[in-house]
Amino acid sequence: MQELLYAYPGGSFLEVGAGAGDAALALRTRYGAEVVAVDSSLTMASEARARGVPFVTAADGHRLPFRTGCFDGAWADRVLQHVAEPEQVLAEMLRVIRPGGRIALVDPDYDTQVLDIEDQELARKVLRFRSDILLRNGSPAHRIAGLLTARGLTDITVEARTLVVRDSSAVDDVMGLRTWAHAAADQGFLGPSDADRFVARYDEAVRTGRFTYAVSFFLTAGTLPRERSGPGRNPPSSA
Ligand SMILES: C[S@@+](CC[C@H](N)C(=O)[O-])C[C@H]1O[C@@H](n2cnc3c(N)ncnc32)[C@H](O)[C@@H]1O
Repeated sequence: MQELLYAYPGGSFLEVGAGAGDAALALRTRYGAEVVAVDSSLTMASEARARGVPFVTAADGHRLPFRTGCFDGAWADRVLQHVAEPEQVLAEMLRVIRPGGRIALVDPDYDTQVLDIEDQELARKVLRFRSDILLRNGSPAHRIAGLLTARGLTDITVEARTLVVRDSSAVDDVMGLRTWAHAAADQGFLGPSDADRFVARYDEAVRTGRFTYAVSFFLTAGTLPRERSGPGRNPPSSA
């Protein structure tokens, strides 16, 4: 992600949804860049401050409290999947980047999930629930390049990295995969007996060593045109 931003010493870069600020700090240390971190969570913003990120603001990515064109680049790492309107957050990030600046975005695309348990039809149903219902935006990641193209960005690159998990406890700890079927049943997406069957098949896959889960992350980056009047640009804001 940091390489995709083309960061450089003295450049000014914004991270939206910075969490505890580790990536912002890393960009600062590695490239000598100025970094501003934004997160909508006050807890996360305080944590980022406590860890030493010099400029931290608690703000919503849908309405960034910055002047148009004031950053050399911006990035968001696993944030668009959670926001109410990904295209609005994207538009705001593009607004605050200067002409010729760079944007980089990464998200998992839950439409790419696979899970090896005995019943593949059931596995697909549960994975689909995760993608379509459990997350606000389970699968926008493969569409970001198209959105950047429509907005006239250039030098667009897309890379995919597949996370392959063989140790089920890693997925349970991170994402709660074993619980998704019962969450689906609670919301009427799956019958309760199917949810029980999913857990039984899941446990069987773990016990017999066949368990494999994978999901791909898309890393997308692009450069704003030098002229700010490209297609789909927002009018300059007075903020
Ligand atoms: C999965 S975490 C990723 C954190 C960080 N980017 C990282 O790489 O560790 C998603 C972060 O996005 C933040 N977030 C969610 N919705 C947001 C919004 N509308 N505006 C700004 N931040 C948001 C959350 O508070 C959370 O810290």
